[in-house]
Amino acid sequence: MITELEQLESVGLAELGAAQGAEALETWRLAYLGPSGKLKAVLGQFKDVPKDQKPAVGAKLNTVRAALEEAFAAKKSSAGAVAEVRELIDVTEPGIVNSAAIGRRHIISRVRDELVEVFARMGFDVAQGPELEDDDHNFVKLNIPPAHPARDPIDNFYVDDPAKVKAPRMMRSQTSTVQVRVMEEMVRRGGGALKDSIRIVAPGRVYRPDTVDATHSFMFHQIEGLYIDRGVTMVDLKTTLMQFARAYFGETAEVRLRPSFFPFTEPSAEFDMKIRLRPDQPERWMELGGCGMVDPNVFAACGVDPEEWTGFAFGFGIERLAMGKYGIPDIRMLFENDVRFLAQL
Ligand code: DAH
Repeated sequence: MITELEQLESVGLAELGAAQGAEALETWRLAYLGPSGKLKAVLGQFKDVPKDQKPAVGAKLNTVRAALEEAFAAKKSSAGAVAEVRELIDVTEPGIVNSAAIGRRHIISRVRDELVEVFARMGFDVAQGPELEDDDHNFVKLNIPPAHPARDPIDNFYVDDPAKVKAPRMMRSQTSTVQVRVMEEMVRRGGGALKDSIRIVAPGRVYRPDTVDATHSFMFHQIEGLYIDRGVTMVDLKTTLMQFARAYFGETAEVRLRPSFFPFTEPSAEFDMKIRLRPDQPERWMELGGCGMVDPNVFAACGVDPEEWTGFAFGFGIERLAMGKYGIPDIRMLFENDVRFLAQL
């Protein structure tokens, strides 16, 4: 039985040495040390050992069991150590880039919402109009006569041929169309006359076949404003625009009104702001858009009584405002959609 035990020890240790991985180790443990393992089987024969040999066989049994258990424990802990080492964190390893990175709204959308929010605080509602318009809303009712150069097909995206169709459709070239639509709608609701004041802003896309450069695009965004009430004056216009500029660009914003001409306002002005577009450039006056007192002809065309109502209107380029606010030197950056640029804003 002593030889049997010695053989069990040497074969056991050899097999343990060859066992690789947690599963093989467990199989070995069950085969040798488990409740129906080889050691237990030898132990079962102990009762048949002659009495005088029992002390020697018993001692051998203990040493073989101890040797196998120790060898097993040692092997298991070294395998565990390897597993632990694998789990250690290498802080120098580059991070995992989340391929499903969360996007963000485009800067133009954000600026549009910021502008709407500033005007909302001054009591302006938001109005909308279609991008595919007719020349009635884009020109006629805005007091732009048929011979006006702004109506030249070269300068507009007509969908119908203006020479052949009576009311040709076009991609709107200005959000001033929404002024007309809102006035018409309010007059309709008033049963043929304007019954209440109007205070709206209308943000949206406009289209012009301009050659693309640092400050021009064939599509851009405007935000239109219209305020109609009794006794509105140029002072209200100036104050509103000044408040807007300070609220959006900060208390130190410098703005000016420059006399100008638009068919739908009288008097008309250009609204400029002092802006530094790049840190290495000096501050410059930048034109943000046009404004003025609503022309009585526009009121009349929309069914609003010019003897009773007065109002001001304005229309700003949203890209211009975004460029001024965030120091963007080239309008094309807003449409190229390079995420390296967009992610900075
Ligand atoms: N619609 C004009 C343009 O696109 C801008 C404008 C000027 C809008 C004066 C207005 C205004 O409402 O009163 O150039």
